[in-house]
Amino acid sequence: MGEPLAARLRRETRAAHAVAERSGIMRSILRGRVEPRAYCALLRALHEIYDALESGLVRHAGSPLVAPASVPALYRTAALAADLEQLHGPRWRREVPLCAAAAAYGARLRRLADERPEWLVAHAYVRYLGDLSGGQILRGIVALALETNGGAGLSFYDFGDAETVAALKARFRDALNDLPVDTAISDEIVEEAKLAFALHTRLFEELDGGPGAAFAGGRFGTAPPAAARSRCQGGSPPMPVRETSSRASEKKMHESIHIDHPSKRIRCYVPAPASGSQRQPQRWVCEIDGATFDMGIVARGDRGNAEEERAVRRRALELAGPETGP
Ligand code: HEM
Repeated sequence: MGEPLAARLRRETRAAHAVAERSGIMRSILRGRVEPRAYCALLRALHEIYDALESGLVRHAGSPLVAPASVPALYRTAALAADLEQLHGPRWRREVPLCAAAAAYGARLRRLADERPEWLVAHAYVRYLGDLSGGQILRGIVALALETNGGAGLSFYDFGDAETVAALKARFRDALNDLPVDTAISDEIVEEAKLAFALHTRLFEELDGGPGAAFAGGRFGTAPPAAARSRCQGGSPPMPVRETSSRASEKKMHESIHIDHPSKRIRCYVPAPASGSQRQPQRWVCEIDGATFDMGIVARGDRGNAEEERAVRRRALELAGPETGP
């Protein structure tokens, strides 16, 4: 018997997790910097993602490949709506803009629900186990920073007491391990989970002033609507535009692919391999308008084959999001 799916997912997405948890707005939050408007923009983005994910999970609840990962006790769409209502006000749907990365992510999830519903499991893994793990740490930081009253506006993180959280985690991992999937589908789910982390990284960068950032003079750059002041609208000024890293030391190229895109400069390359043969699978990096994203290992087998190039192109375009603006 091969490695159980839950263990594979944990092992093979470890590097992507490390990148996501330190990127953009996540890094700011971990440092205790929770700017209310940016935080509401994050909740708005997550609402779009969960809405797309959970409508797909509900729609395919009869499928043995999806049903085990569809656990109503984990659903977050309603909690996010309640938090946005609490922190921003009843007009949040109209007044809190949806950033481009979240719109693109939601669109992908809706497409998967039509075409590859079994891949939704990868996104359920990344979101729900993340909420049940790091999410519980973030809750304390956000509560302190927003000084919310008795947990108001924090229902997103609320799954019950610590025992319930532990039981939900164990149950979800068991469900992953019991999925009736062969190695090929397991491989696809693992790859999709890596992509899910990369899409989160892109989202967190955008919400913190990365490429295409709403805060850099885009929709968030304009004055908030003249509605009743709320936590989301009040408080500190927009977050500064963050310098994107250039990772100059990694620019020694062994492979490089330019991707045609009507509005973005996209280049993918393999940084200098740390060790081993250059024919072994290597981590790819994607640069989109100067910002760097770790794509991980995109294909199995020897380096430089056609499958690898196709996977790099597909993943880069997913990361770049819609061809035109939001
Ligand atoms: C920003 C701060 C974050 C912190 C401090 C954090 C922390 C953690 C910790 C401590 C665990 C291990 C829990 C355990 O072994 O039971 C974990 C697991 C996990 N986290 Fe995070 N995390 C963060 C962000 C994220 C984000 C943004 C995502 C997804 C986009 C995510 C997804 C996951 C997943 C899927 C797991 C489960 C790994 C597994 O055991 O299979 N985390 N996180």
